[in-house]
Amino acid sequence: MSAASPVSTAVDAPLLEVRGLSKRFPGVKALEEIGLTLSAGEVLAVVGENGAGKSTLMKILAGVQQPDAGEIRMQGAPIQFASVDAALAAGVALIHQELNLSDNLDVAANIFLGREPHRLGWIQQSQVHARATHYLRQVGLEISPGRLVRDLSIGQQQLVEIAKALSINARVLIMDEPTSSLSQREADQLMGVIGQLRDRGVGILYISHRLAEVEAIADRVTVLRDGRNAGDLPRQSISHAAMVGLMVGRDVSRFYQRSSHQPGETVLEVERLVTTTWPGAAVDFSLRGGEIVGLAGLVGAGRSELLRALFGVDERLSGRVKLHGRPLPGGRPRAAIAAGMALVPEDRKQQGLILEMSVRENASLASLAGHAKVGGLIDAAYERALCEESMRTLRIRASGPEQIAGLLSGGNQQKVVLAKWLALRPSVLLLDEPTRGIDIGAKEEIYHLIDELAGRGIAILFASSELEEIIGISDRVLVMREGRLTGELPRAELSEQALMSLATH
Ligand SMILES: Nc1ncnc2c1ncn2[C@@H]1O[C@H](COP(=O)(O)OP(=O)(O)OP(=O)(O)O)[C@@H](O)[C@H]1O
Ligand SMILES: [Mg+2]
Repeated sequence: MSAASPVSTAVDAPLLEVRGLSKRFPGVKALEEIGLTLSAGEVLAVVGENGAGKSTLMKILAGVQQPDAGEIRMQGAPIQFASVDAALAAGVALIHQELNLSDNLDVAANIFLGREPHRLGWIQQSQVHARATHYLRQVGLEISPGRLVRDLSIGQQQLVEIAKALSINARVLIMDEPTSSLSQREADQLMGVIGQLRDRGVGILYISHRLAEVEAIADRVTVLRDGRNAGDLPRQSISHAAMVGLMVGRDVSRFYQRSSHQPGETVLEVERLVTTTWPGAAVDFSLRGGEIVGLAGLVGAGRSELLRALFGVDERLSGRVKLHGRPLPGGRPRAAIAAGMALVPEDRKQQGLILEMSVRENASLASLAGHAKVGGLIDAAYERALCEESMRTLRIRASGPEQIAGLLSGGNQQKVVLAKWLALRPSVLLLDEPTRGIDIGAKEEIYHLIDELAGRGIAILFASSELEEIIGISDRVLVMREGRLTGELPRAELSEQALMSLATH
């Protein structure tokens, strides 16, 4: 000990150390005196409920936001990143929870944005593409680097973000819910990539609500609760129960508790429906009131496209859809809403929320048509009552109904999207990955809500990539592959294995 020189102290210092970090937003203490250490070659998982402060902490570490107080050290030296570029230059890269790519640029341009390899001032297109391909392979993505990002699925976009971080050669890599839009197979692939980075000495901060994944990958876990440190778990103490205990502080064992449903009349009939994405595949099925039907399949299997075609956001190529016995025209979401159908879309940022508007305005957006006063004025009292009710039932954590939706934590944004569609009191509810990015306590509430809606006779079609949740809540499950329905399983026959084999073949 006494022989330790100042030099060796610096070498022994953790790769990253955070002390007493605090950050306030108007009306919210997002972080209070947070501490954290990360070593080289370590995967540190950061878990906590929606709004616990995880993303805020990561944004500060990556130079996106500035702390109000506290200290950050990298290998013993105090640092403060005034910008994302400063953080990148020091080797700290953040993959955002909400995807951050430029839709109108191709994949390669996104990977090297602002850092294109130049020669004599000209960007070498072929070189950019070759290098992009190199990083795309590392994340197992076999697409052309010339594809436009907006033509990729969310899962593919997520992988492009990861390829981008790899290209920066980060020493500290921060991933904020990187697998939330990935299929099991893609997530497994990512776990492999993370393992390789760890072996190369990269320190990884890993945020996820998928606790099984955390158990599999983390060397250590730091739990946040209401902006404070709630505890740390070393490798040997990491378990589902231990994490949940620190996160929530209450028992969530009734997780998939469900009542038995009595399916009623057939409410939705789908005959030979063909979507524009899968012109060679036709889909037939029906839904009865009061049943919860899971829609399983790998990313890209055509689940979202099917839901979008049913609701009318996408045109149909052919086929017939009947809602309550009446034909439902294609390509007209308004007609679908009027007939009692609602769709909670997969991508809340693009399709679900108006980020600049308040929680109150968002929550009542879809249902306003029915409640406009004479002359088209919005019924403000109705709007406020509606918002307060859904904030309560869905436990939306916001400073109040007037908070701007874009400033809510990711999981709370998703709850506002749900609130908005539920306010329509639909008789057929289509849900596309409704619990993505939702913490374990809130998931339980959403499952409970879905169960309750089914109990009231609402027909629910529920697409999810999480097999566990599909099995947990469905009365029966339809499985898709390459635009087709490859099978249907009743509740009694549900198992991960059975679903996977229908989804992959
Ligand atoms: N720019 C901002 N302005 C105001 N409030 C904010 C802002 N950013 C975050 N908040 C608030 O700070 C708190 C912490 O949010 P944060 O996004 O860090 O949570 P999180 O742990 O990442 O949650 P999730 O699991 O839902 O992603 C929340 O109450 C959120 O509404
Ligand atoms: Mg977050």
